[in-house]
Amino acid sequence: MERVHFSKNISFSRIIYGMWRLTEDGNISVEHITKKISLCLDQGITTFDQADIYGDYSAEETLGNAIAADKAIRNKMEIITKCDIVAPCGKFAAEPLKYYNTSKEHITQSVNSSLKNMKIDHIDMLLIHRPDPFMNADETGQVLDELIKSGKVRAAGVSNFKPWDWNLLQSRMENPLLTNQIEFSLSKHEPLTNGDLSFHYEKGVNIMAWSPLGGGRLLVEKNELYSTLKRIAYNYESDLATIALAWILSHPSRILPVVGTNNLERIRKIHMATDTKIDRASWFALYSASIGHEVP
Ligand SMILES: NC(=O)c1ccc[n+]([C@@H]2O[C@H](COP(=O)([O-])OP(=O)(O)OC[C@H]3O[C@@H](n4cnc5c(N)ncnc54)[C@H](OP(=O)(O)O)[C@@H]3O)[C@@H](O)[C@H]2O)c1
Repeated sequence: MERVHFSKNISFSRIIYGMWRLTEDGNISVEHITKKISLCLDQGITTFDQADIYGDYSAEETLGNAIAADKAIRNKMEIITKCDIVAPCGKFAAEPLKYYNTSKEHITQSVNSSLKNMKIDHIDMLLIHRPDPFMNADETGQVLDELIKSGKVRAAGVSNFKPWDWNLLQSRMENPLLTNQIEFSLSKHEPLTNGDLSFHYEKGVNIMAWSPLGGGRLLVEKNELYSTLKRIAYNYESDLATIALAWILSHPSRILPVVGTNNLERIRKIHMATDTKIDRASWFALYSASIGHEVP
């Protein structure tokens, strides 16, 4: 599988396996989690996306149990995790409401607990999960730099940031922010035209696309987009999920989709999307179906 180089010594697999839903299929046994990881590694999918909040603050530990059972596996993986969402569940059950916390104290504690939960000694990339309207940019930028200097975190990035959020945080940091993980798919096409994608493309920053299959909706909602996906999949002798991922992968800005299936058979087939090159007319057929009309 192709690799994307984010810096001199950080590269990720072109497709990333996301662990938001890791605990949702009801089987968190070490064997089951290890199986999912192995199926990814077998295809060259070496990068795994976590967040402190996944599984109501339990998914990192679920991954950590698998890493503890097979320590060699850690060296084959790159691990992304995120912080700043405080939601009243799990360890934050006593909090009165959901809020964001980008303070030095919270980020430092969050990183320490992510390392402990995943039983690892460094995080390959730490993302600020959501832009925090109450952020002290100097403090947040400084703690990210300090965490990189300490070696606990190898690189920093953001998620769901608008260009102005990115510029603000970046202006207070020595290290470069290396990615922005945003929602992007055939059912969330706006980043193509609202500046979110162009902003990063211009800077040579590779973005990550979360929910690249629209959280599965693309494959079940029987609408115009579904019919177009079906037609293109037929033309390419492929399947709908592969085509929907290939549509993202074909974009020249080299976006990294973060896929989230828990189904072992579907995991096994993820790599097929990297071998499928969508031609321009098919790309536009899907785009047109996504926006609901032909381009002007
Ligand atoms: N940064 C952020 O704010 C943010 C937000 C959300 C997610 N994320 C990241 O993005 C990752 C992916 O998100 P996602 O899980 O929503 O991505 P997704 O890949 O768009 O959707 C996965 C869902 O689609 C279903 N699905 C996949 N193939 C299917 C098929 N052929 N037919 C029917 N259903 C199908 C899966 O069900 P099965 O399991 O049954 O296959 C699963 O429920 C997350 O794990 C997380 O790492 C980040």
